[in-house]
Parts: sequence; C-alpha cells; structure tokens
Amino acid sequence: LASTEVDLSPIAEGQAITVTWRGKPVFVRHRTAAEIASAQKTDLGSLIDPQPDSVRVKEGHEQWLIAVGICTHLGCVPLGQKSTDPRGDYGGWFCPCHGSHYDTAARIRKGPAPLNLAIPEYVFLDDTRIRIG
Ligand code: FES
Repeated sequence: LASTEVDLSPIAEGQAITVTWRGKPVFVRHRTAAEIASAQKTDLGSLIDPQPDSVRVKEGHEQWLIAVGICTHLGCVPLGQKSTDPRGDYGGWFCPCHGSHYDTAARIRKGPAPLNLAIPEYVFLDDTRIRIG
C-alpha cells in the first residue's frame, strides 16, 4: 500500500506499536512527558546527526514519535517497541546487531549507526489518526 492509516487511540502513553508501510516496519510510540522533555532538552552539540526534537515530530502532537524501524547502520530492526525490550542508554531503541543506541526522538546517540531513524511522510487526519505516506 502506498499509504497506511493508523488509529492512535488504543496506544496508551508509554506504549508503542509497529505498523507496516511499503514493506517496512514503522514505529509509532506514544511518548511520556518525561520522554518528550528528555528529547527536547538534548544539547544538539552532543548529537551524531543533529536534529532538534521539533523537526522529528509534528507541532501540537509532540507525544507521537513516528519513525521507520530500520537501523541506519546495516538495517536491523531495533528493539524498544515492547516495554520489556531493552531501550538502550538513551531510553529510545537499541539495535542489538552492533549496539546502536537511539533516544526518545529516535536519534542515534551511540554506536555505529550514522543517522537518526528516518521519519516517514505522514499527516494527522485528526487528533487520533495519522496517514503515513
Ligand atoms: Fe543496527 Fe548495526 S544494524 S547497529
């Protein structure tokens, strides 16, 4: 499918789901206030691929982080979607293949991956629905 609609309403704060879009896993995470604050206060100078949180999410919907779930190193699917998964040193996702750590904005913070997880094109159709693609 060229585009995928996702109903966000069942995803509780702190939870995440994975949807498939164009054959790729896409992570949809409902960030907690602490996760948002952590992402917003990060010093850009400390980032490998510097991007403020504000360009990683949609204004007014900062609790929703939507990212392609493919590690930018060699393409493994990072862990962190389940609450029992390891989320790495920065509380986002951890790629077990070679040890890349992503933060709560899915930005690469440590390990061999060169780039942040990609943010797909998406729009909010209303407060609880998005269309990816
Ligand atoms: Fe993720 Fe290598 S594929 S760290």
